[in-house]
Amino acid sequence: MDFALIGGTGVENLTLNRRTARTVDTPYGSVAIETGKLGNTDLVFLKRHGDKHTVPPHLINYRGNIWALKQMGVKKILATGAVGSISTDFRIGDIVLVDQFLDFTKNRPLTFFDGGELGVLHVDVTEPYCPVLRQKIVLSAETLGLNIKNGGVYVCTEGPRFETPAEIRMYSMMGGHLVGMTGIPEVVLARELGMCYTTIALVTNEAAGISKKPLTHGEVIATMNMLGENVAKLVENTSRTLDREQICYCPTSNKEAGLF
Ligand code: HPA
Repeated sequence: MDFALIGGTGVENLTLNRRTARTVDTPYGSVAIETGKLGNTDLVFLKRHGDKHTVPPHLINYRGNIWALKQMGVKKILATGAVGSISTDFRIGDIVLVDQFLDFTKNRPLTFFDGGELGVLHVDVTEPYCPVLRQKIVLSAETLGLNIKNGGVYVCTEGPRFETPAEIRMYSMMGGHLVGMTGIPEVVLARELGMCYTTIALVTNEAAGISKKPLTHGEVIATMNMLGENVAKLVENTSRTLDREQICYCPTSNKEAGLF
C-alpha cells in the first residue's frame, strides 16, 4: 500500500470500497487501520481519533500510527485536520494546504529518535509539508473546480481545550494563520521515517476572540459535515494522480540516522 489518508475530525465517515479492517502491531502499541479502495486507488485509512472519535488530541498514539503506516509500506500521506482561523485571510469553509507550522504542544512524544536503539536524528523541516504532494492536490482541486488556498502557517496547541483570545493574539503576532491540535508531531514523525506528508486543513470556525461567541465542538462538526463531500472528492481525485515514486527531499530526510 503506497498511500494513506489520515482522517481527522469529521472525515471519519468516509467509506472505502472493498474495505478491510485490521490491526497493525508496532513497537508503540497496536493500531487500527482500514484498507480498501477510494475510487480506483488502494489506500490505507487511519482514523486519527479512533473509530468513534474517542481519542483526544493529546492522547493520540502518533508514533504508533505513523510507524504502522510505514510498516504497511506507505510512501505518501494525505492528512486532514480541522482548524480555527486566526487571520482574516482564511474564512470558515476554506480548504488550506498549510506550508509551515508553529509548535505549541507541551506533552507529547516528539520523535522516534530518543537516543536508544534508533539513535539521534535532528530531522530537517525546512519544508515540513511535501511540496510535490501539495502541488498534486492543487492541480487536483483545479481539475475539480474546487477553490483551495495554498500556503498558511499552522499553529498546533496541546488542547484539548480551545485557546484564550490572548493566546490567539499572540499566535497572530507570531505569524500564525490557523490553529489546530493534531498536526504535530504527526508531520514530523512522517518526515523522520521518510514519508511524504501533507495536511489538508479545513477551516471550521473563527478562533477564540475573533469569534465573539464561545467555541463548541458542535460548530466544528457542523462545518466539517458541510465540507466532507468536497474533501472526499479532493482526496479521491488526488490519490488517482499519485505515483509511488518520491521525487522530493522527504525520503532522504533521515539518512543521517542511516536507518531506512
Ligand atoms: N482551536 C484549536 N483547534 C481547533 C479549532 C480551534 O479553534 N478549530 C478546530 N480545531
